[in-house]
Amino acid sequence: MDRRRTQSLGGIQKTERGNGRRHETAHTENQESGKTSLQQPREMSKTQRKLARKLSGAHFRSLNEQMYGQSGAKSFADMQLEPELFGLYHEGYAEQVRSWPCNPLDRIVQMMSRMDKRLVVADFGCGTAELARQVPQAKVHSFDLVAHNERITACDMAHVPLDSASVDVAVFCLSLMGTNYAEFIREANRVLRNGAKLFVAEVASRFKDTTRQKTADSGARRSTDEIQEELVPDFVAGMRRAGFELQVSSKVQGFFLLFLFKKVGGCGQKNLAMPTLKLCTYKKR
Ligand SMILES: C[S@@+](CC[C@H](N)C(=O)[O-])C[C@H]1O[C@@H](n2cnc3c(N)ncnc32)[C@H](O)[C@@H]1O
Repeated sequence: MDRRRTQSLGGIQKTERGNGRRHETAHTENQESGKTSLQQPREMSKTQRKLARKLSGAHFRSLNEQMYGQSGAKSFADMQLEPELFGLYHEGYAEQVRSWPCNPLDRIVQMMSRMDKRLVVADFGCGTAELARQVPQAKVHSFDLVAHNERITACDMAHVPLDSASVDVAVFCLSLMGTNYAEFIREANRVLRNGAKLFVAEVASRFKDTTRQKTADSGARRSTDEIQEELVPDFVAGMRRAGFELQVSSKVQGFFLLFLFKKVGGCGQKNLAMPTLKLCTYKKR
């Protein structure tokens, strides 16, 4: 997100970064709202639309990788310089979600609908604040890098503007991005009351340990299922150190892992050691 120069070329925007790489996307400006959108102008041909979609997908994947490879603070600073990137990211993300058999967020919404109605919820890395929209009975605080709509508070979620011990449920749905995700977990511990719940949903492949996989492959061969999520025990142990006890974990459609933790204590450790999860790369669509 280190953009230096932007050229608009007849609806296709070319973006040149400091590192010389080019990121291109179809780009139109909504005159009334001033918001950037990827809606295609009517006069685009079918081929142009196809190309524009490809470029937009490439831009999304590039932003995604950047957010996994740097700290939350850096992503926040970058997004403040170019808040329109958030819209581009979420249009690409929505395209990915449409191709999934299910969205783990729906599973969380479903589980929350069985809980007490007057819950105070903190949605860390809320995206477009779908959770708040779908759980209107709760008081949902939605946090993300950019306040894309009125439900969202813009911040780096390592520091959310909530009082300590004021929240009943915290949610990280596919949002443990950033090299310092342990700080997000610490922050969740701070705002949650004792006994409160924490949902974490992540893409299962993030918990693969390719180093161990190679060793396993060289010895007795193990099935892909057995070696797939080797980092899960380390992750759960790290969460325990962070003051969270695992209550339930499940695999959703063979693709996502969904964990439900309970806060059982404070997170004493300043430098909380959590395993490095693999970055999540999305397929070209
Ligand atoms: C893959 S999206 C998922 C959005 C939403 N949770 C959902 O399930 O629809 C991950 C979100 O986490 C946000 N995010 C990543 N790092 C963040 C940080 N340090 N502070 C706040 N939000 C962050 C991204 O901006 C993005 O909107």
